[in-house]
Amino acid sequence: MMKNIRIFDTTLRDGEQAPGGSLSIEEKVRIAKQLANLGVDVIEPGFPISSQGEFTAVQQISRDLLHVEICGFARAVTEDINRAIEATQDATKRSLHLFISSSDIHLDFQLKKSRDQVIQIAREKVAYAKQFVDRIEFSPMDASRTGNEFLLEMVEAVVAEGATLINIPDTVGFALPNEYGQIFKMLKNNVRGGKHVEYSAHCHNDLGMAVANSLAAIEAGATQIEVTVNGIGERAGNCSLEELVMAIETRKEALGVQTNINTEEIFETSRLVSRIMNFPIAFNKPIVGRNAFQHEAGIHQDGLLKNRNTYEIMNPEKLGVPREMIILGKHSGRHAIKHRVSEMGVPLNPTQLEDLYTRFKAFADQHKSVTDEQLAQLVGKATNTVMENYMITDIKVFTQHHKKAATATVINQITHEENTFLGKGKGPVEAIISSIKQAIPLDVKFIDLELYSLSSGENANGEAIVTIEIEGRKFKGTCIDEDIMFSIAKGFISAINQCIRENNIQESSKIMNQ
Ligand code: KIV
Ligand code: ZN
Repeated sequence: MMKNIRIFDTTLRDGEQAPGGSLSIEEKVRIAKQLANLGVDVIEPGFPISSQGEFTAVQQISRDLLHVEICGFARAVTEDINRAIEATQDATKRSLHLFISSSDIHLDFQLKKSRDQVIQIAREKVAYAKQFVDRIEFSPMDASRTGNEFLLEMVEAVVAEGATLINIPDTVGFALPNEYGQIFKMLKNNVRGGKHVEYSAHCHNDLGMAVANSLAAIEAGATQIEVTVNGIGERAGNCSLEELVMAIETRKEALGVQTNINTEEIFETSRLVSRIMNFPIAFNKPIVGRNAFQHEAGIHQDGLLKNRNTYEIMNPEKLGVPREMIILGKHSGRHAIKHRVSEMGVPLNPTQLEDLYTRFKAFADQHKSVTDEQLAQLVGKATNTVMENYMITDIKVFTQHHKKAATATVINQITHEENTFLGKGKGPVEAIISSIKQAIPLDVKFIDLELYSLSSGENANGEAIVTIEIEGRKFKGTCIDEDIMFSIAKGFISAINQCIRENNIQESSKIMNQ
């Protein structure tokens, strides 16, 4: 029988404490709704006493989300508790998270209080809060640097007053996994009256051990883990939701535990938080980084095409990751190139494959990777086929303080018609997209734009990855160019061409060969 681990999400409270991560009320509500879709068990939506906006956000989320526990957050201070109780009043299921420091370094230098005083405050405030809420989580802040004796005394004191869940923060990310696990064992074995108390882990990632420490806590009996999406939070952040959940999911037989997370929502949640908070995700970040499921080495690509398990321990489709398994580059072999071209719907005879392979290798030697758009052009040359229905030959962008406009010149390579269109928008990107859309007789929705600078310096190449939707299906176009506006325009047209290719490949090659 697998034990269930509660996922307590603090993206909107501890995660928002990440430098520069501040969120509006609407943004918090939007993220909270997605967290509910993801299936987290508890949401800590903010710190109600800290501002009117925080209060309103917590209140709104408590009213809107009926199927998830909402946890108010408060220092061990009466006014904080009152605000948190009031803000979460309308939640269908609620709890309250109270904290006060426990380590000597915090007591001596920050609180300037004795151990006895701090225990007294903790007791009083837990007893006060218990009048209003039954489920009380208590955190002795900096618990991992507190020392067993005083930690035990403090935990016993708050349990006696009715705390139902004890959270052990590794506030500065200092603990090693075995030390952190020992704290849970010590408390579980010794807390008087603590039979029905549950334990929770809250780990910071200063030494990159937040996930490992959280897993150590689970092995030592913790039943709740506090996490943030993309691991955002103070300094190096918190235990990353997606990494912890996927470690549990992938190794559940070894760990004997499971979560309620709907893994298919992981990618979407990660992107949403990254975009709203303006926090880019490192390319090599486990689970959600753009390289996390990409394979460049020819040997790996070959293995994957024969059996995915050769080099993959998770199925990206189960995380909602759009499947772009293979990055084509100079290490790619014939097998991978042929596979990608067949995904484009183009059958190649052996002579065409050899011709493409030679062109590909020459091209890939000069570039870091080969995008689908570049591959399509190479295929076009090797097969004498029009692979790109539309091509942009020129764009012009006009930007003035409140006015942005752009023209795009687009050729239809099948009919050889060339036209220039004028578009307007709030920014240059909107103006460019609006001008190109006029050239395309399709209903194209612009969904997302990712921009990367691929090197340093003024003449750095910019990479644009554009996601569009046509008739409910999503397509991605990638383009690299020194001119970032041009790369956005070409990325957009490349995604459109991909849609046309997938629907019409036979049609356009027939026309071309006439
Ligand atoms: O890291 C920490 O100590 C915290 C507590 C207030 C739970 O975020
Ligand atoms: Zn924290």
